[in-house]
Amino acid sequence: MILLGVNIDHCATVRQARYREAAATVGGAVEPDPVAFAIASERAGADGITVHLREDRRHIQERDVWRLRESIATRLNLEMACTPAMTEFALKLKPDFVCVVPESRQEITTEGGLDVVGHRERVRACVEALAAAGILVSLFIDPDEPQIELSAKLGAPFVELHTGAYANAYYTPQRAKEFQRLRLGCVRAKDVGLTVNAGHGINYVNIAEVRTLPHLHELNIGHSIVSRALFTGVDEAVREMKARMNA
Ligand code: PXP
Repeated sequence: MILLGVNIDHCATVRQARYREAAATVGGAVEPDPVAFAIASERAGADGITVHLREDRRHIQERDVWRLRESIATRLNLEMACTPAMTEFALKLKPDFVCVVPESRQEITTEGGLDVVGHRERVRACVEALAAAGILVSLFIDPDEPQIELSAKLGAPFVELHTGAYANAYYTPQRAKEFQRLRLGCVRAKDVGLTVNAGHGINYVNIAEVRTLPHLHELNIGHSIVSRALFTGVDEAVREMKARMNA
């Protein structure tokens, strides 16, 4: 069975659109509460909750992450940039997983995988510090051989293969090429001993093909589930995705 990590960032995006200046992150008129979204997701079958605490704090806030740490019953996956400040935060928080992602102020969301090859020593320091604290580390990378092989050498037990290029190409002639790239990436990652997660841009349509990728352990899905939940509620949105993932 493929596991589902529900990324709740965009629930916080909606809250921040109105309440960016509010003193509190929840309570009174301040809504929607991403922690409530997380708990409803768990009840519907989510296997874990994922949040990206961005440097610009555009959606999830530190307080959300601490509240999640105290209240969720599954596993907390913290997505973060590879910086000393975020590593220090993660060491205090002690999430179950950290997924190291690239980040820059100009990005709308994470675009392109982490360049492990280009930032080898910085990534190594981050992986080692987190692993020493018992946190399982995943590197969010493009499905390319050099990135996959170095991820394994640096001691990360997981990679999350970036499905964004495939999702963007879904309705174009490039789709087959991008899917094959992902397929080979999954096989290579498994061969070098990595556990294979995937995410970004997965929705209720492309999941039919994504789920056929070999060796998938977990998918991290956010935008499509939050969007669907506006119409169906969280429960049905999560159940429907889980059913399609494991059809
Ligand atoms: N995985 C990672 C590493 C991400 O950064 C994100 C959010 O950009 C996702 C998964 C979820 O992507 P989406 O919101 O498109 O489902």
